[in-house]
Amino acid sequence: MLAIIGGSGLTQLANLDVSHREVVRTPFGDPSGALTFGRIGGQSVVFLARHGYGHTIPPHMVNYRANLWALKEAKAGRIVSVASVGGIRQDLVPGSLVIPHQIIDYTWGRSSTFFESGVSQVVHVDFTYPYDEALRAELLRAAEAAGETILEGAVYAATQGPRLETAAEVDRLERDGADIVGMTGMPEAVLARELELPYAAICVVANWAAGRADSRDGIRFDHIEAILQAAMIRTRNVIAGLCSEEFCPS
Ligand code: HPA
Repeated sequence: MLAIIGGSGLTQLANLDVSHREVVRTPFGDPSGALTFGRIGGQSVVFLARHGYGHTIPPHMVNYRANLWALKEAKAGRIVSVASVGGIRQDLVPGSLVIPHQIIDYTWGRSSTFFESGVSQVVHVDFTYPYDEALRAELLRAAEAAGETILEGAVYAATQGPRLETAAEVDRLERDGADIVGMTGMPEAVLARELELPYAAICVVANWAAGRADSRDGIRFDHIEAILQAAMIRTRNVIAGLCSEEFCPS
């Protein structure tokens, strides 16, 4: 079963034919909300709104461990994360969709491992390539089949939030090699890896990062909603493509 974790702008999946919802508890506490089960095309899907269905949980307060654990328990076989980001690289204009290939983690104080206590040995997972390459490739092919332009490859800088960055911080992120900046990519990706769940992300560029282009004098929140709305329709098309017979033969 495919799991979708929806971020800002995607608190529900309009094309999900819902069968039922399930409130799940985990040894790590409660996930962000009930899991929503249903079908898209020929494929069983479970959906979870990362910030809660009322969009009330800020990035640093999301219980990432409970979310990932709940999805694993629900028999998710792979996870597609949808997340909004700020664009740093010049071609990543607001409204673009991009499949990142790397992560730099600037978050702190988040519970970022399942291997904390009660383990018989210290565990170090390999995280050289933080996203699942096969799932990334499928997303790219699904986007192409759906006629949606999606960019391949970006280094995702995960910042702590909930505040946005300063212009100097974005300059530093760029010097570090980051192309996009968001607040939820970690520890989500590493927790999926620890649970051996293939994980990839569709990032939606909501705005220019602080100090860039039309965010030079500050980030204009009034534009973001319209940009996200249009981009999420395109994201849903990509997900529908991924759920089609071609990628998920029944
Ligand atoms: N910075 C961090 N996270 C974000 C941004 C940003 O500019 N836009 C959307 N999520």
